[in-house]
Amino acid sequence: MLVSAKEMLEKARDGKYAVGQFNINNLEWTKSILQVAEEMKSPVILGVSEGAGKYMTGFKTVAAMVKAMDEEMKISVPVALHLDHGTYEGCYKCIKAGFTSIMFDGSHYPIDENIDKTRELVKISQAMGLSIEAEVGSIGGEEDGVIGMGECADPNECKQVADLGVTMLAAGIGNIHGKYPANWKGLSFETLAAIKEKVGDMPLVLHGGTGIPADMIKKAISLGVAKINVNTECQLSFQEATRKYIEAGKDLEGKGFDPRKLLAPGAEAIKQTVREKIELFGSANKA
Ligand code: 13P
Repeated sequence: MLVSAKEMLEKARDGKYAVGQFNINNLEWTKSILQVAEEMKSPVILGVSEGAGKYMTGFKTVAAMVKAMDEEMKISVPVALHLDHGTYEGCYKCIKAGFTSIMFDGSHYPIDENIDKTRELVKISQAMGLSIEAEVGSIGGEEDGVIGMGECADPNECKQVADLGVTMLAAGIGNIHGKYPANWKGLSFETLAAIKEKVGDMPLVLHGGTGIPADMIKKAISLGVAKINVNTECQLSFQEATRKYIEAGKDLEGKGFDPRKLLAPGAEAIKQTVREKIELFGSANKA
């Protein structure tokens, strides 16, 4: 069931759990994530970066594929199709293509410009019944060419953006895309608590979900995080399982070269990662 992310995130906030956003790259990724969400009766958000959208030939292709898979697979749990770290132009393209949710990442603009552009996109999203995520402060590291310095968000700026009527707010709290370096200082719960204090009920988004220890995830949820993004971890599980298959020479046995066989261990591995995250985030049986 393709829906906006609004209701699922408000329920998560009230129920003190988080909904996972898992980024997709192709049909296998999408199928694995949808299968697990349905199996665990969990709401889910499919994240699409601009790079992944381009890779899949465009947002229209992505929206058509997700809509059709949702139908053909008879998915009964709520699924939001969400643009991840969208540019201003990318947001318009996804709205047109039929996404149910967008993120406008204006964090690299001066705050006034971020606010102006976010305000405009909030108006359109609300009119069309879509959910919208905004970002203040920046997520460190690199994701699909989007590079952030990792500054912690200013709680007053968070309040200004939250007051625009966004559905959810991503705020930098020392989180990083990709693997965390050995000398990572951990999430800044002080910043998170100060933001929560300012924005009240606004569902908060934790990017860079890969590799954050379980106790930090739980604490973040207790402080208002209702959506957690995971991308790299599914890529790593896919890569590891695929490497094992090839290194064991399975692709050379019988019809092991068949792409449906070659990609199966990776797809299974993604499923296992998504299962573990849904369990940890507490969204199983909340659909
Ligand atoms: P990771 O790749 O670190 O899991 O981050 C995902 C993310 O935040 C997507 O926006």
